[in-house]
Amino acid sequence: MSMERTFSIIKPDATRRNITGRIITKLEDAGLRVVAQKRVLWSKAQAQAFYAVHKERPFFDDLVAFMTSGPIVMQVLEGENAVAKNREIMGATDPADADPGTIRAEFAESLEANSVHGSDSPDTAALEISMCFRDDEIPG
Ligand code: CMP
Repeated sequence: MSMERTFSIIKPDATRRNITGRIITKLEDAGLRVVAQKRVLWSKAQAQAFYAVHKERPFFDDLVAFMTSGPIVMQVLEGENAVAKNREIMGATDPADADPGTIRAEFAESLEANSVHGSDSPDTAALEISMCFRDDEIPG
């Protein structure tokens, strides 16, 4: 077990339905601490840069359109094994496959509008955090 940080996004489908607090409660109940947070509206260029790893995928343009369709809440989460713990509490990418009690099982609308994003590894977490937060925006 090790103290770790991960990067999380509460997506436009969730900000639109005013359920950011319910999602944050689930993260906190799982033992994760929000050590930085900001609500922003991404430009097309910001969404394309963040999801560049998916740029050849057929869903890329739709994903960028969705992620710029409303405000998102970007977070740095901290806790024991935060990357894996966050992925566990988020549930599978497709809500149809997500375990009961997970964020996506309870709140996601579809594979695309799946309420949350979470880093898939510690290396990705470090990259995503550095893309979205300056050091002085992470008070701990
Ligand atoms: P996320 O974890 O943010 O990473 C990429 C996102 O693309 C994913 O969640 C979904 O919101 C979206 N997406 C849309 N279609 C697919 C698909 N077929 N496979 C994976 N992700 C998809």
